[in-house]
Amino acid sequence: MKQFASFKLDMANECLWQDGVQIALQPKPFAVLRYLVEHPGRLITHDELLDALWPNTFVQPQVLRTYMLELRKILGDDAGQPRFIQTLPKRGYCFMAAVTEAAGPLRSAMGPAPEKAHGAGISIRGEERALLEAEIPLVAGGERRVVLISGEAGMGKTALVDAFTPQAVSALAAALARGQCVPGLGGKEQFYPVMEALSHLCASPHGEAACRVLARMAPEWLVTLGRHPEASADSVTHPAARERVTGNLCAALEELAADKPLILLFEDAQWADHDTLNLISALARRRAPAKLLILVTYRPLCLTAGHPLKALKQDLLMRRLCAEIVLKPLAKFAVLQVLARELGQDDLSPELGTFVHRHAEGNPLFAILILRRLIAQRILVRPANNAARWELAAPSQTIDAGVPEELSQMVELEIERLPPEEQRILEAGSLMNFAFPAWAVAAALDRDAAEIEEACDGLARSSYLLERAGQDELPDGSHSAFYVFTHGLYREVLYQRQTAARRARWHIRIAGRLGELFAGREACVAREMALHYEAAESWLSGALALRAAAHYAAERGAHGEAIELLERALRISVNLSTAEREGQIREMRGALQAARDAMRHRAEIESEAPIKV
Ligand SMILES: Nc1ncnc2c1ncn2[C@@H]1O[C@H](COP(=O)(O)OP(=O)(O)OP(=O)(O)O)[C@@H](O)[C@H]1O
Ligand SMILES: [Mg+2]
Repeated sequence: MKQFASFKLDMANECLWQDGVQIALQPKPFAVLRYLVEHPGRLITHDELLDALWPNTFVQPQVLRTYMLELRKILGDDAGQPRFIQTLPKRGYCFMAAVTEAAGPLRSAMGPAPEKAHGAGISIRGEERALLEAEIPLVAGGERRVVLISGEAGMGKTALVDAFTPQAVSALAAALARGQCVPGLGGKEQFYPVMEALSHLCASPHGEAACRVLARMAPEWLVTLGRHPEASADSVTHPAARERVTGNLCAALEELAADKPLILLFEDAQWADHDTLNLISALARRRAPAKLLILVTYRPLCLTAGHPLKALKQDLLMRRLCAEIVLKPLAKFAVLQVLARELGQDDLSPELGTFVHRHAEGNPLFAILILRRLIAQRILVRPANNAARWELAAPSQTIDAGVPEELSQMVELEIERLPPEEQRILEAGSLMNFAFPAWAVAAALDRDAAEIEEACDGLARSSYLLERAGQDELPDGSHSAFYVFTHGLYREVLYQRQTAARRARWHIRIAGRLGELFAGREACVAREMALHYEAAESWLSGALALRAAAHYAAERGAHGEAIELLERALRISVNLSTAEREGQIREMRGALQAARDAMRHRAEIESEAPIKV
């Protein structure tokens, strides 16, 4: 527990205390405050904060303002004369108060504990964690290490790496870069998780050094990340350039990891694109010494025959170029720990433990969902005469029926309990990669955005499926809240249960609304529009949106980006009808040639100029 002035920040219960009085905080404001309190007395840039709190999401920096406003109100702080949160205009924030460690009040018995930040407060997977810890001295000694962490959905891969990486970062004084692979839309983007990992790295305290090395050894990556608009380099996704840009990036990462250890984490590699897997493969096979730790999580059941990760894994294992940690089902005592943590109660009835363990089969997420279901059904209750304790209201034999065998069926069951209108809202939300704005759901469902926002707020309060993540300012000056699913599995189930035809219809409506909202500035959102059109297999609209984005990029001199967009437009144009293809492809090739010429021309002029980062 951290103390500042009369406040105590309670990490275990995710709340704030002031003079012994508990102040409830929503998960995101809590996370913002926690980050500030854990990094007092220094500038925390917008990028750093966004990256730490929404590692997998694109979030507008304005969102932070909303949270700071809320936190200032709670802390009684004054932006003009701050005691706690100082705004450093255009740069970020600084937490000004002195922070000390403090003993905490007893765990509150207010209700089931909200889902904790992964790894908080309990020992997670001691045995598997010890295997990971054994990698630390090897990496410190200059060995490159690749560790695959496999386990089915909800088995605790993210919880394990979330518990381990801070420890490894601090033991090795390492830099950390994390890339998330996503199903659906994200899968269409080459190197998507690599770009995300590099963005993460560049925005971290080691960012300056990383950018310098990338600018020298792999400038095309900085161009693609939008951090080096003046460099003359090919786009990283150009088919002919891919091998070279992969090699350049390997060399740059090795250079970075020569002195300072580097941890690369790729989450959910079952959804990784080929290029990302090739990069992991190249990094694993190269021999130069590097203090490099590559962690890759994946779900083994997704590796069907012919999946490229399957072949890669087998080859690396055979050559002893990687280690694998398989997350087995949790033992009963560990499932009991999960339950105890969720309920905030250590002495649970053995009957409850046996029941949940038997049905969840050692899967922690399954165990948590069963618990929530029992609470929702009022089978697990806090009796009026003892409101601090959870007890089973019925003998377990009578509740035995109705717990599905599959985790996804369990999620499905929870969704089915909601009124149809709310189910549709969540389904529309699942069409976005991570955060989904209320206006987009409203567009998909052809409903009023304010009504949808109200409904989503209600869902965030009454269900554990989603949480409000912030508020966006739209070009017309209006505001729209956005939300995230609390676990990726909820989004997956919601996405899968829809027919392709309906998804396509909704994707097209969202893309159309994006165009309306950003009228006159469509090019800014063309990439996003194209992803929706692609998902709907509306190829012509997708190609046109990408062309518009490329035009906009070329206009502001970002020729590398224009080339990447046009290459992508050409790739999806293979799906056009012959008549459509004719004119489109000719025009796109012309634009591509012009962008390449412009880049070459600039390279000639600037070949001697020093590179600015
Ligand atoms: N050892 C553990 N002790 C307590 N809770 C755990 C443990 N492992 C996982 N959990 C909890 O179970 C839930 C699912 O875990 P997690 O998200 O890490 O699974 P995952 O393997 O990453 O799943 P996915 O494949 O869907 O990404 C989370 O709420 C997490 O906090
Ligand atoms: Mg996970």
